[in-house]
Amino acid sequence: MAERIEFVLNGRNVAVETDPLRRLLDVLREDLGYTGTKEGCGEGECGACSVLVDGRLVNSCLAAVGTLAGREVMTIEGFRETERFKVLERAFGEAGAVQCGFCTPGMLLAGEALLRRNPQPSETEIRTALSGNLCRCTGYGMIVAAIQDAAQRGEGLW
Ligand code: FES
Ligand code: FES
Repeated sequence: MAERIEFVLNGRNVAVETDPLRRLLDVLREDLGYTGTKEGCGEGECGACSVLVDGRLVNSCLAAVGTLAGREVMTIEGFRETERFKVLERAFGEAGAVQCGFCTPGMLLAGEALLRRNPQPSETEIRTALSGNLCRCTGYGMIVAAIQDAAQRGEGLW
């Protein structure tokens, strides 16, 4: 049965009338038009559907929208509006860390989640933070290098 669910999406209050058991991924893409959040595996393995919920990385394919009531969700569309996004975007571009781009929104949000809690991560900490996000194209080294570079250039932003 449909319920009214209110939460904060990219800094704005939103309300949806829907089955609270629907996946956040579907509500974002189908109801709200936030298609930067991708579906890869649909079962919590690939991280393509990553969003931030209260600042923590969450697989939106595993999150029932009803659990989001009153919480803060950020998708790649919201993150794009920040200075931190620009630092990460430039670092990813220069490192060659974007190839097909399917994993990229999730990777950028994984980087953001990491740098928020650890602004100067080691390579091992970066690899651990990205361990839930799969990339078929880059071999990960360029993504790790991009996040290291962003951490240095963005000093003070995180
Ligand atoms: S689509 Fe959600 S983890 Fe793969
Ligand atoms: S750039 Fe293609 S999956 Fe990562």
